[in-house]
Amino acid sequence: MAAFLLLLCVVSATFSQAVLANSATAASRLNVLFLVVDDLRPKLGCYGETNMVTPNIDQLAAKSVRFERAYVQQAVCSPSRTSFLTGRRPDTTRIFDLVHYFRKVAGNYTTLPQHFKNNGYVTQSVGKIFHPGSASGGTDDYPYSWTYKAFHAPTERYVGEKICPSPDGTFTHSAVCPVDLKTVPGGSLPDIQNSDFTIEFLKNRSMDHKPFFVGMGYHRPHLAFSYPKEYLELYPMSKIQLAPNPYYPPWLPEVAWSSYGEIKKYDDIAAMNISTFGLIPTDYSMKLRQSYSAAVSFTDAQVGRVLQALDQYGLADNTVITFHGDHGWQLGDHGEWCKHTNFDIATRIPMLVHVPGVTSKKAPAGKKFPFHDALDKSFGRQPPLEQPELVSESLVEAVDLYATISELAGLDIPSTCPDNSLDVAFCTEGASLVPIIKNLTSSTGSLTSWKPAVFSQYPRSKVVPSNEAPNTPIMGYTMRTDGHRYTEWIAYNHTTFTADWSKVYARELYIYSSDPDEDVNVAEVPAFQDLATSLSQQLRSGWRNALPTPRN
Ligand SMILES: *[C@@H]1O[C@H](CO)[C@@H](O)[C@H](O)[C@H]1NC(C)=O
Ligand SMILES: *[C@@H]1O[C@H](CO)[C@@H](O)[C@H](O)[C@H]1NC(C)=O
Ligand SMILES: *[C@@H]1O[C@H](CO)[C@@H](O)[C@H](O)[C@H]1NC(C)=O
Ligand SMILES: *[C@@H]1O[C@H](CO)[C@@H](O)[C@H](O)[C@H]1NC(C)=O
Ligand SMILES: *[C@@H]1O[C@H](CO)[C@@H](O)[C@H](O)[C@H]1NC(C)=O
Repeated sequence: MAAFLLLLCVVSATFSQAVLANSATAASRLNVLFLVVDDLRPKLGCYGETNMVTPNIDQLAAKSVRFERAYVQQAVCSPSRTSFLTGRRPDTTRIFDLVHYFRKVAGNYTTLPQHFKNNGYVTQSVGKIFHPGSASGGTDDYPYSWTYKAFHAPTERYVGEKICPSPDGTFTHSAVCPVDLKTVPGGSLPDIQNSDFTIEFLKNRSMDHKPFFVGMGYHRPHLAFSYPKEYLELYPMSKIQLAPNPYYPPWLPEVAWSSYGEIKKYDDIAAMNISTFGLIPTDYSMKLRQSYSAAVSFTDAQVGRVLQALDQYGLADNTVITFHGDHGWQLGDHGEWCKHTNFDIATRIPMLVHVPGVTSKKAPAGKKFPFHDALDKSFGRQPPLEQPELVSESLVEAVDLYATISELAGLDIPSTCPDNSLDVAFCTEGASLVPIIKNLTSSTGSLTSWKPAVFSQYPRSKVVPSNEAPNTPIMGYTMRTDGHRYTEWIAYNHTTFTADWSKVYARELYIYSSDPDEDVNVAEVPAFQDLATSLSQQLRSGWRNALPTPRN
């Protein structure tokens, strides 16, 4: 409590400082470290998962606002990333797959890093920020978004190759893929090399004092789960548990199911020949859960290295840090794997926002983010968690990050997009979270409400599930409110980009007070029809009607 009160004293000064940054000299501007982790659900110590070993992310969380209920706009990579990087939702970016590029199919939108570049910042993409390939014009949106070409680790070229050692001495392309760094091709892993590059980038900025926006995108815990094999020791099999609900929910409409084709392409899973509605056997489910955890701890160490460098180069007190996943990940929950659904477990992400001097005290260089090595023998296996003091329970969305980061750095804040914003370069469909941060860090917090609902969507090709054809005639629109999730799977035309709400193929309704894991779809239960009708109206009235009411 004492530390919390100390914090309060610095708040008002720092916020006016941030607002003043706009007219201040370049050297006094707040930098941005934009950390994005692929396929990371909130399976972290700081989100209450006490078996997880994530000391570096926990340390960041303890100095940030931790958003407990943050959601992405579509639970797959490029649609989600395009959404939070443009500050617009998939219906406006028209990106629902991993192939198309928003500048070609929608509009010439100013992205978040582009906004910083336009304002004199050095912007750099490292690893996976935009989905690489055709989804970002073959250049990770360079030169629009970035001052320099996007950096990709040399070892990214081994993605898809057989690098996982088998006991018989051969190599496979498997989901479970602990590696020996001494013998792995290239002698390293992409997240290590990308972190090295970011560290060097930070060193350069500490010398030339140019304001920067660096996007550091981690690949793990995305499949394949390739990580240094030592991280397995943090997760003995005796401590691994199955998902609480490892079965196809009995009242789930088939269109809501994803046959998790992504993981079935890996050698170990392909060999199981699992059918469309089949399940991964229990023993291998446990192995996958173990490896996901190990991959998360490996990623945590790479996050820790970058934070330590930021701190040691004297930049930590002048840099806004955001950390979030691009979507969640199903680890056998509902019998599902990967993302590609509208369940909470696929749409919910960890999200942290660190504002120096506001969400934590300022600290001398080298004192803010010391590196915690979970592999060091002296590292306690159950470290005392640094519990975040600033936790927001408000419903928030990844699409809110654009306006939030812009406001924190003192740049122009985009206004809300008009209904048709194809020709509007600079606007947003999210809302700045600064009022929440202010409310949590000031002694006079008087913000009474935030968004009543948040929105995600997922396309399907047919009523029976398939991940194969991305541009499909069905869209599942889903809404998460305080107490419910409500989804309608409706007709969608990919030529005209229009939804036909008169053609409803299936509905889902989950009531969290009795069913926190979304196991029992009651959308067709007679007793809940009044509730379903009112939630349907709320879903159809959309995100615009759920914007936070007048800003404090
Ligand atoms: C897109 O906008 C940028 C400025 O942000 C401009 O330089 C470029 O010419 C525009 N491209 C098209 C195709 O309009
Ligand atoms: C750092 O600066 C040096 C010297 O200008 C340059 O060669 C190097 O490419 C820079 N590294 C990064 C990661 O920006
Ligand atoms: C995979 O399973 C299907 C039916 O479940 C069967 O027809 C097919 O022969 C199997 N393929 C292999 C390679 O075992
Ligand atoms: C604002 O802060 C007050 C006091 O800490 C808290 O009770 C309230 O829930 C906060 N409001 C929001 C929307 O976070
Ligand atoms: C989508 O709309 C176009 C243009 O109106 C129409 O030609 C096409 O048949 C529609 N597609 C579907 C699947 O309804």
